[in-house]
Amino acid sequence: MSRNYYMAGNWKMHLTRTEASQLAQDLVKQLGDGKHKYLIAPSFTLLETVSAVVENSNIRLGAQNCAPEEQGAHTGEVSVLQLKDLDVQTIILGHSERRHIYKEDDALINKKVKLALKHGFEVILCIGELLEERETGKVEEVCERQTVKGLEGVNAEDLHNVVIAYEPVWAIGTGKTATPQDAEAVHAFVRKVIARLYGEDAASKIIIQYGGSVKPDNAAQLMAMENIDGALVGGASLKTDTFIPIAKFKS
Ligand code: 13P
Repeated sequence: MSRNYYMAGNWKMHLTRTEASQLAQDLVKQLGDGKHKYLIAPSFTLLETVSAVVENSNIRLGAQNCAPEEQGAHTGEVSVLQLKDLDVQTIILGHSERRHIYKEDDALINKKVKLALKHGFEVILCIGELLEERETGKVEEVCERQTVKGLEGVNAEDLHNVVIAYEPVWAIGTGKTATPQDAEAVHAFVRKVIARLYGEDAASKIIIQYGGSVKPDNAAQLMAMENIDGALVGGASLKTDTFIPIAKFKS
């Protein structure tokens, strides 16, 4: 496979500055000789602290969201300009917790995707179905819609800065992981959607991560699948004991 594995930690709403600094320092030390692409995405309030720690390392700095506008009267929001100022390189958008808890729809997510790409960020666009959507046979319909609408108006050039993360909602934080075969089927399907939109070459290059209860004991089996190119890890990314074995999984 010509695609490089991309192993990312989404710290969600966890850790204080002291804890975040310690974890980032430990990761810099332990992933220094790692062979894959790495990212950690702390809360906004931790970005400045973590940015100083990962500077000049092989770990990218990610944010978990951004506002759909560059600046202005948007109380409580954080803009791409502010994220750039902290040397953030990547923005996670469309996470299921944003979609389902904070009611972000495809149009809003698409606006954020385009703004982040315009400002030169890498975007990790998260997609994935709810349990009832899986049970009623709607996995492909949902993942196709979220991919197509999330990328509306994104040109082929900017697609180079897009990573897709397939995160079945029922697998997030539940300890239930999609089987490697079930995940692979969705990844292959999403790659076909990208081929239809951008052509075979773009589809063969795009990185598609899997997320949802990735742990040290299931990472290698998931990563062994043809169309799974990395992981977006939540809970297990908060401790080196669990994140390092995932990030350095043995194929
Ligand atoms: P868990 O690894 O805790 O299931 O979270 C996955 C996730 O949502 C990463 O973005």
